[in-house]
Amino acid sequence: MKNIAVFASGSGSNFQAILDAVNEGSLQANVKLLVCDRPGAYVIERAEQNSIPYFVFSAKDFPNKEAFELRILQELKNEDIEYLVLAGYMRLVSLTLLAEYTGHIVNIHPSLLPSFPGKDAIGQALEAQANKSGVTIHFVDEGMDTGPIIAQQTIEIDYNETRKSLQDKIQNIEHQLYPVILQKLLTCQ
Ligand code: GAR
Repeated sequence: MKNIAVFASGSGSNFQAILDAVNEGSLQANVKLLVCDRPGAYVIERAEQNSIPYFVFSAKDFPNKEAFELRILQELKNEDIEYLVLAGYMRLVSLTLLAEYTGHIVNIHPSLLPSFPGKDAIGQALEAQANKSGVTIHFVDEGMDTGPIIAQQTIEIDYNETRKSLQDKIQNIEHQLYPVILQKLLTCQ
């Protein structure tokens, strides 16, 4: 089984979905570490409740991105991490991590990339009055949500869609799709 680290910045509902899939046996992976860049984020409580070790940092405590990514790298090496699973990690990953893990870093994004990359993809879709959106899982490169796409799932946006209803629809898909795709990825390589 592959050793994975999940990276998250917020509530961690995708992290929870991954843990649930591991616990029920549909995802075969060792979730050995949570990396979080927001002290106080709810995802940390989820790690505690599930006895998953975590590394939490504040970017402002480091001189630059290279410095905190080197620190993260040390944590990843300590746990023999083979795959990085970004699940609501709201930072670009730079060469410090990519040099070690290219092809082994995946991200989930709440739109049909290349549409609506970056922050607030759900708000962007509503603002654009798009009639569909969805979820993308992709490999991570240096760009903003630009890496090769692994899987996508489309949803219709209704005429009376609200931010909350669209977010709920998207997250429901995310929670099902991410564990399924991770299982394929982690067991075929
Ligand atoms: C998820 O919807 C994920 O797709 C999105 O953040 C949310 C995190 O929710 N990621 C991005 O927007 C990345 N650009 P969660 O903390 O409840 O899993």
